[in-house]
Amino acid sequence: MTMDAIRQRFLMCRPTYFAVDYAINPWMDPTAPVDADLAIRQWEQLCRTYLDLGHEVELIEPVAGLPDMVFAANGGTVIDDKAMAVQFRDPQRADEAPAYRAWFEAAGFEMYDPKHVNEGEGDVLLAGDHLLAGTGFRTAHASHAQLQETFGYPVVTMQLVDPRFYHLDTALTVLDERTVAYLPEAFSPGSRAVLRRLFPDAIHATMADAEVLGLNAVSDGRHVVLPAQATDLAAKLRDRGYETIGIDLSELRKAGGGPKCCTLRLRQGKASK
Ligand code: ARG
Repeated sequence: MTMDAIRQRFLMCRPTYFAVDYAINPWMDPTAPVDADLAIRQWEQLCRTYLDLGHEVELIEPVAGLPDMVFAANGGTVIDDKAMAVQFRDPQRADEAPAYRAWFEAAGFEMYDPKHVNEGEGDVLLAGDHLLAGTGFRTAHASHAQLQETFGYPVVTMQLVDPRFYHLDTALTVLDERTVAYLPEAFSPGSRAVLRRLFPDAIHATMADAEVLGLNAVSDGRHVVLPAQATDLAAKLRDRGYETIGIDLSELRKAGGGPKCCTLRLRQGKASK
């Protein structure tokens, strides 16, 4: 089997103002120390990894007072030249939405505004011809209908049940058009049954891998960039023929984020799935 890497265009945001000042998920402890300089160096390593793989990285200007803005996956949902802006559940992140919206607009995307809470590609993952959409903690179920109407892909609701895996991209990763990896325990029984039906060959991650945010991975179809600590998952991926690249994002993990959270794929043109 030959596995082709698809060249990607990513949007990222330097963690200039990164901090853990509030707690909106169980990973965040504002009393625990965070090494802000190390966070920047780790993020730079992620950025350099993408460039070394031949991908393109666009940067959005970080805004002071928005410590979670580094998590670009939450900035929008971008498919086929259309971008849907976001509406955060928590007021602490609300001002990120217009900043990202302005970037998409300036970059020439056709813009859509959310009618309900929608945390972008933290909860929306394109897997082949299905749009998997998480709900339960952040993105409202009502937004799933709007996603389907806007992008014209069948939306499959994924019910998240473990607060540590509050965004879909902490519980499931898309490896290529046909393959996903996920933590079964993060989903309701019905959603697990749907996942088994849609992806009978999926890789099942262990709790140990998920607890280091191992599923918060970025795949180009051949190379998978994932947290360095997710060693079991990396071994399973290599068994399936993927090349794995471990990245240490220990400081950003203190906010509940990994490589995928820091990365928004800018899909342009119908072919760029
Ligand atoms: N502290 C951020 C929050 O709780 C982390 C966001 C992580 N992003 C993601 N795509 N999972 O909102």
